Amino acid sequence: MSFRVLSYSYKGGTGRTTSTANIAAALAQNHSVLCIDLDVDAPGLGILFGFYDNLRGIKDYNLYLQDYLTCEDPASFDIEKALIDVSKESGTGLKFNKTLKVFPSKIKYPKSISFTGNTTAQRLESLLKKIEETGEFEYIILDSPSGFGEMAAISMYVSEYILLFFRYCLQHVEGTIQISHFINKLALDYLPVATSVPRDNPGFTEPMKVEILKKLTGRDIFEIPENNSLKWNERIVLFDSEDKFPGIKKMQACYSNLANKLVKERR
Ligand SMILES: Nc1ncnc2c1ncn2[C@@H]1O[C@H](COP(=O)(O)OP(=O)(O)OP(=O)(O)O)[C@@H](O)[C@H]1O
Ligand SMILES: [Mg+2]
Repeated sequence: MSFRVLSYSYKGGTGRTTSTANIAAALAQNHSVLCIDLDVDAPGLGILFGFYDNLRGIKDYNLYLQDYLTCEDPASFDIEKALIDVSKESGTGLKFNKTLKVFPSKIKYPKSISFTGNTTAQRLESLLKKIEETGEFEYIILDSPSGFGEMAAISMYVSEYILLFFRYCLQHVEGTIQISHFINKLALDYLPVATSVPRDNPGFTEPMKVEILKKLTGRDIFEIPENNSLKWNERIVLFDSEDKFPGIKKMQACYSNLANKLVKERR
């Protein structure tokens, strides 16, 4: 079975997708990994890996996650074809020791949305089961939408473990605490991950951080440092380069540590 890990954050712009891509890249040095973009309303994962709309140059490419979730006959959907081998097809020239594939969502305003509650949850669950039956992936990393919406709840429902990203500011912390209660109700395990941007929040002192930690049920918080050389438009998958920007080694080490935590959790 694959270990299903969800990257979630209550607020958007927390560094969730960047971290997801880089954790997946770190894992793929030793394990087979599939990343699925569940952020169907504002997808970002595909771009990080170098995919844009009109994937593979096919104008009406219809093998995105939203196509699977809304198609009339999911049984005839070609899942294998929809999973994109990052090292072969993204054009980034990335290399991994093991398989790293991505199931992207499309960046396209939907004409009609027919996702409704249970249907989406059931379809997603059956998609994951079908993928797991192939035995191809040790890890499935899911990039969740942010917020308290239905798709975020469904994303948690299909997951086994949650990376709970937040920043040290009041709105993030309050939403994250609320979500941690919800996760507890689902009896899922999670790791709080702070993407530290101290520049934005000079008022957050160490004692306040300790208080937050207590509120988050006494767990240790994993910290991802700020690196201002990270640029959205650089299609960051850190493991493709030794010297892409200053501090890259520190970021690589941080994402590797987080990937190793997932490996331990899986055991
Ligand atoms: N550790 C970091 N240090 C500095 N900037 C970062 C870091 N991680 C991510 N960023 C930057 O923060 C911005 C938001 O990152 P990202 O898109 O990964 O967040 P997100 O939580 O997935 O956002 P969204 O809710 O829009 O999907 C990007 O410009 C990204 O390059
Ligand atoms: Mg994102």
